[in-house]
Amino acid sequence: MDSIRIQGGICLQGKARIQGSKNASLPVLAATLLVGEGSYIGNCPRIADVHSMVSLLKSLGCAVYWQETGIVVDSSNVGKREMPKEAVRGMRSSLCLLGALLGRCGEVIMEYPGGCVIGERPIDLHMSALAQMGVEFTQTDGKIRAAANSLHGACIDLPFPSVGATENIILAGVAAEGETILTGAAREPEILTLSRFLCRCGACIEGAGSSRVVIHGGKRLYGADFWVPADRIVAGTYLFGCIGAGGNVFLEHAPAEEMEAVLLTAEQMGGHVCVSEEGIYVQAPGRPFPVDLVTAPYPGFPTDLQSAVLAAEARGMGCTHIEETIFENRFRIVEDLRKMGACIEQSDARHVTVQGVETLRGARLTAGELRGGAALVAAGVMAQGASFVGGCSYIYRGYENICRDFRELGARVTSV
Ligand code: EPZ
Repeated sequence: MDSIRIQGGICLQGKARIQGSKNASLPVLAATLLVGEGSYIGNCPRIADVHSMVSLLKSLGCAVYWQETGIVVDSSNVGKREMPKEAVRGMRSSLCLLGALLGRCGEVIMEYPGGCVIGERPIDLHMSALAQMGVEFTQTDGKIRAAANSLHGACIDLPFPSVGATENIILAGVAAEGETILTGAAREPEILTLSRFLCRCGACIEGAGSSRVVIHGGKRLYGADFWVPADRIVAGTYLFGCIGAGGNVFLEHAPAEEMEAVLLTAEQMGGHVCVSEEGIYVQAPGRPFPVDLVTAPYPGFPTDLQSAVLAAEARGMGCTHIEETIFENRFRIVEDLRKMGACIEQSDARHVTVQGVETLRGARLTAGELRGGAALVAAGVMAQGASFVGGCSYIYRGYENICRDFRELGARVTSV
């Protein structure tokens, strides 16, 4: 079931329920390590990355099991400090276990996570911040050993608002003695979600979601029940799918309050967006208007939705410019979109110009990474005729059931 078949060219009409957020649930699950008791994390998406996190937590000694739509984690017996090699290599977000395990055990041994298909993804910001909190790093045989005799608060200024580094500083800061004052923090909603969970467990964190976060460390933590919010990136994927294909869709539970830049772009592309307590309603007349799009850290336009806009604008009514400022290799779908008849010029690794064409035609495509892969499925929905997308295991890392969701929105999409 590694491929998806799409019979495209139909306007979308329907309602899809948006799954829980991948990028919120992973750090929250990592944070359960700090608690030393049982916690229930509800609304976790059943996706490959969450399954990998469950395996990792088990390998560290936690009792972990699914219960209804959520996951119970009991971290009373965390003993191991070494993360299994395959897990670290296979999932970049295993990195958020670094701060959590340091906080819990004072030591972590792990493989260097390395780059990935969307970019180099160094971890220098994580390491230099944690070093300021008393962590010493040594490297042997490709492994990193991070150890702190006494983890302590610090004044840290991040030169770039890295999401993962902000999460690691918060996780370590909660367990550290004294106060950590973090400036230049990432403001992504997932940071606020992580802090809300930790505060529910007894931590004291101020300013999460702003660029200055103060963590009063060393508080006793208790297990807690928590509900993961809906996934803003999954919601955005279907939103731009609808804008590219045309139609009317309702995205149930879509977190509009986290999607201001996304909804603004959708409106500039000609979508009519209506927000209610229950979700987001979108009406799209047909071919999108062109836009000038620049990705940026939150509250800017998310890099994770850049390829969804690119796919939609491939059949836009004019010339769109896109600049990718976060990752250096995030235009991997350009070649596949060209196979569908798209007219896209890539001037360098960070810039493309799209001259919209009236009709995209179905083609054989290959997903090379998570968000680009999902955008190719959306492109297949917009195109006339049949498309096949291979390599879909990337997509299942972040989308519970993209075929079911697009079918609920009226498209003809099946996994084969
Ligand atoms: C998170 O990755 C997300 N992953 C990504 O989503 C998302 O694209 C990204 O934030 C940006 O919003 C998770 O939350 C699990 P960063 P993260 O640290 O934390 C550079 C998806 O598809 N950098 O903010 O790894 C880095 O190379 C994924 O769901 C350093 O130079 O992102 C990149 O260019 C993909 N040194 C930029 O910062 C560092 O030490 C942003 O990275 C850390 C990062």
